[in-house]
Amino acid sequence: MVEALKRMEYRGYDSVGIATSKAGKILTRKGVGKVAEVNSVLHLDEMSGEIGIGHTRWATHGAVTSGNAHPHTSCKSDIGVVHNGLIENYQELKDELSKNGHAFKSETDSEVIAHLLEHNMSINNNDIKGAMVNTCNRLKGSFAFVAIFDNSTLCGARFDEPLIVGIGKGKDEFFVSSDVLGFLMHTDQAVFLDNRDIILLEGNGLSIVDFDGKDVSRPVTQVAWELADSDKGNYAYFTLKEIHKQVQTIFRSMQQKQKSMESFCNILKSAKDVYVTGSGTSYHSALLAKHILSKYSRIRTEAIMSSEFQYSTESLDENSVIIAISQSGETADVLKSVQAAREKGAKVLSIVNVTTSSLARLSDCFLEVNCGPEIGVAATKSFTSQLAVLYFITDSISGNSGGITTNSTELSDAIQQTLELEPIVAEIAKETKSARDIYIVGRSIHFPICLEGALKIKELAYIHAEGIAAGELKHGPLALIDKNSVVIILNPNDSTYTDTVSNAHVIKSRGAILIGISDKSKDDDKLYDHFINIPSVREQLLPLIEIIPLQILAYYLALSNNIDPDYPRNLAKSVTVN
Ligand code: AGP
Repeated sequence: MVEALKRMEYRGYDSVGIATSKAGKILTRKGVGKVAEVNSVLHLDEMSGEIGIGHTRWATHGAVTSGNAHPHTSCKSDIGVVHNGLIENYQELKDELSKNGHAFKSETDSEVIAHLLEHNMSINNNDIKGAMVNTCNRLKGSFAFVAIFDNSTLCGARFDEPLIVGIGKGKDEFFVSSDVLGFLMHTDQAVFLDNRDIILLEGNGLSIVDFDGKDVSRPVTQVAWELADSDKGNYAYFTLKEIHKQVQTIFRSMQQKQKSMESFCNILKSAKDVYVTGSGTSYHSALLAKHILSKYSRIRTEAIMSSEFQYSTESLDENSVIIAISQSGETADVLKSVQAAREKGAKVLSIVNVTTSSLARLSDCFLEVNCGPEIGVAATKSFTSQLAVLYFITDSISGNSGGITTNSTELSDAIQQTLELEPIVAEIAKETKSARDIYIVGRSIHFPICLEGALKIKELAYIHAEGIAAGELKHGPLALIDKNSVVIILNPNDSTYTDTVSNAHVIKSRGAILIGISDKSKDDDKLYDHFINIPSVREQLLPLIEIIPLQILAYYLALSNNIDPDYPRNLAKSVTVN
């Protein structure tokens, strides 16, 4: 479990804990920090027992303390629980159980599950299945939890959070995990549980029932991912590896199954209105989709961030289509948007990296991003792969006018050349590492890249950064600019060039430090303090190139400020709570 938790640490790294069952006793060890740190102190990997549960935490309820770390146990410590999600009615249940004498040891919502199971065991004549069914029907909110009982039974349940069973090679070898990476080193045979599924792992193996206690059966799926893809290889960090892998991953994303691409495009073309949605980096892909679908496929599209989508569904109906973009396919805000669209009768299309995810299974048709597991919390290769798929869709609908399918060699060379700018960008990071604010400015198709670059700098280097539409500066943000400001100008040699140069001069006159990113060689030496000369590609493909120096800059700003780029504070790779 220590090995498995290390592979899943990108999902949350506030604290870690393990509980095992041995000879009718449950042993629990847990602490604050990353798996390796806690293991070096508490020796989790030396705990005895062949049955166990483990957890890495991204705190939602209660501070980051060892008391709030999972597993949580019942009063008699005969049940241990690990949980992902949010129990909305935990206070009501806690009050009720406290009145019945239960003593709570943490501030978390999750601990209520252990006590509710203990209560239901006591009123169900110690029938574990009955207790699981009653417990699941009392919980409100979203949950995936696994419980260990002192008779060495393991149970689990899911409702709006991912939970997967790995079928081991040995006869009675089973894994239960939030993510296939938790057991891929042992088996690629997986059972993806549906909502309202309960699993019971007792002496005679695995059984699955629903929340009414009825038996259900679920197919075993072969997981397509290579474990090697989730290793750092010779790179110092996953983030740098994943930035460099973009030479391959962008082209892997263009190998789309023809049948899926055809049905995806047919549904899109038949739509009365189209909405594109996503969160964080995937929302920036949605903004770019709006640009290229309307410009090259004449499909008018509205881009809405997923956390806001539920508040603007008035005009959706059965002739509407929503395109949901998500690397993990498990982001709660995105799943909520899709559910809201479904309630309005809209068709659901999605672009996902995890093809076995809840989003893929909720979609009428999905396209695979196919960039392999992305471990670095900051999305890098998944972003450019999402863009590649969007260009491919545009090409397919508008008969290759978008240009990604017909320019792959040019593009691959350009990506390689851009990655070779790394030493120049690393130097710039050293010189700007103490910046108080960094603004990224650009126009048109480049504006979403400004937003994405700013997001990378915020989450990797903890520096306040903002993407600003160049034309908007003079309407207010310019007041922020002074000699301490660092401003990055996306100034490619396209229809935005001239206007953006004028904006750059206005900013320069306020004393800011200017970093220029352009495929046009510098024609005014005094304008930029630093210049990153990216290779030229077709105008519409520039976003795929100009984001790379921004990813590299954010990475080196993190290193220059002694920050671990793979595990930014307070974040998690897949945000499965609202
Ligand atoms: C991006 O670097 C962040 N990790 C985050 O904003 C992320 O893009 C967002 O949480 C959406 O994740 P998804 O693509 O898996 O849905």
